[in-house]
Amino acid sequence: MATTRFMTLPRHIMEGEKQHPEATGELSAILLQLGLAAKVISLEVNKAGLVDILGFTGGDNIHGEKVKKLDLYAHEILVKAMDHGGHFCVMASEEEEDIIHLPPHQKIGKYVLLFDPLDGSSNIDANISIGTIFSIYKRISKGNGPGTLADCLQPGYKQIAAGYIVYGSSTILVYSAGHGVYGFTLDPAFGEFLLSHDDIKIPKCGRIYSINEGNYFSWHKGLKDYIKYLQANNFEGKPYQARYVGSMVADIHRTLLYGGIFMYPGDKRNPKGKLRLMYECNPMAFIIEEAGGRATDGKRRILEIQPENLHERTPIFIGSLEDVLLVEKFMREAREAY
Ligand code: AHG
Ligand code: MN
Ligand code: MN
Repeated sequence: MATTRFMTLPRHIMEGEKQHPEATGELSAILLQLGLAAKVISLEVNKAGLVDILGFTGGDNIHGEKVKKLDLYAHEILVKAMDHGGHFCVMASEEEEDIIHLPPHQKIGKYVLLFDPLDGSSNIDANISIGTIFSIYKRISKGNGPGTLADCLQPGYKQIAAGYIVYGSSTILVYSAGHGVYGFTLDPAFGEFLLSHDDIKIPKCGRIYSINEGNYFSWHKGLKDYIKYLQANNFEGKPYQARYVGSMVADIHRTLLYGGIFMYPGDKRNPKGKLRLMYECNPMAFIIEEAGGRATDGKRRILEIQPENLHERTPIFIGSLEDVLLVEKFMREAREAY
């Protein structure tokens, strides 16, 4: 598919559909609707410094964390944008403890949507990149009534599409429906997403590692050894570089484009790490694998983890194939040595 200035998201989706005669067009409609929600959230994020929207709501979310207003705004926009197309039977969000049912009068469809409405929300006040992450499955429950928790708790390899939007120096939407990874940059003048990154492939290895090193003393010995190894060695004749935005969507987007590795490990204090399997790790793992990379919890492929609850956490090592294999090797060797 040629990268032309006028390859808009709708046109790209329609052309992709023509190449897949089995497609019903429903997934395309969903992706377009998500694109619209992304534009609305992007506008709000861009004017966050101008209006009185910053600061805490005063409430905690179900994880006991302070919620900023923009998280809730993004959550509400996504629910409103996605609940009336007749495509979904159930949804789930980081910002809501239980599954989200469709309004009673709406047509119920065969897809399931999970999302992190705003990732990296602690960065909002500092104008640092934040994002939205989404994951789409087909329902597994029978019939065409409301979807169930079991529809949401499917392993990541069953995703039929996933993606994210980064609200950064520009707004970019990256998605995959299992036939390559594509990135679209929002042209603020047209208000349209234009294809900017065609058929993205992640480099086999990279120079950048990304991890919250403040947790160093709680890490697994193998992980400490791996980071020390990187610091003592060069990549193509130059020292390795550490980069950590603190918004996983932005850290992993950079990793996808430049190569390298992003890690949020389990440690002594938090054996399962911090990041959520269903709407953070699975969709990002789907994209990275689709681009030729690797995503594991140190031992298992992220996409093969059988989820047990909606908000469960998992350690994650994600990025270039060779870099993820190497950290796994360090951790395996340290385990075997003790
Ligand atoms: P969210 O804003 O959706 O709660 O996610 C924040 C996450 C993730 O984006 C980021 O990688 C991680 O928190 C950073 O955590 P640390 O501050 O512990 O490094
Ligand atoms: Mn998040
Ligand atoms: Mn969030």
